[in-house]
Amino acid sequence: MSLSPAEASRQTLEICRKAPVIPVILIENASTAVPMAEALVAGGLPVLEVTLRTPAALDAIRAMAKVQGGIVGAGTLLRREDVLRAKEAGATFGVSPGATFSILEACEEAELPLLPGASTASEVMALLERGYTTMKFFPAEPAGGVPFLKSLASPLPAAHFCPTGGITPANLPRYLELPNVICCGGSWVVPADKVAAGDWAGIEALAKAAAHPSV
Ligand code: 3PG
Repeated sequence: MSLSPAEASRQTLEICRKAPVIPVILIENASTAVPMAEALVAGGLPVLEVTLRTPAALDAIRAMAKVQGGIVGAGTLLRREDVLRAKEAGATFGVSPGATFSILEACEEAELPLLPGASTASEVMALLERGYTTMKFFPAEPAGGVPFLKSLASPLPAAHFCPTGGITPANLPRYLELPNVICCGGSWVVPADKVAAGDWAGIEALAKAAAHPSV
């Protein structure tokens, strides 16, 4: 069995619709995973992307996957092995900064719904051609931000985006009001200093603010 791109996009669209922001998490210590996830979920952000950029990431996914109400995905999928490890750790979706043939194929074979990255019209067209309609727009701000996404809406109406990279509480509302944006990703809701201090109430407050942006 394998997951079709259309079904993967249907599932990632459903996930992206659960909250306006997906926290992008770079975790150094897996022992912080559960309180971090609990704070984010309590604040209204149930969808979590744990990037596979640290040795603690897979253990963090394993721990977070057990947190009530959370939907935990693995980010920064770059290689086929990343997909297999993410799936084995209990990730329910994957995110990649771009889209290579081998990553798309590996996720389809592993039945891990992927939010693949794109940052040009040609990359969006290539994903649409394969059957993906829900994508990460990365890196959002450096790649053209709100005006770029606005320009894609008319020629490529089938594509829907989760912009990530440079999103802040200040520019978030401008992204969310675009018809082709479903949600945004960002790391500002899990600042390293608050994690290091174990300030879970502070992280819950940041999540609450992100979950109710003034659009
Ligand atoms: C990333 O992959 O690092 C994300 O794009 C997060 O970007 P941000 O730190 O600008 O939110």
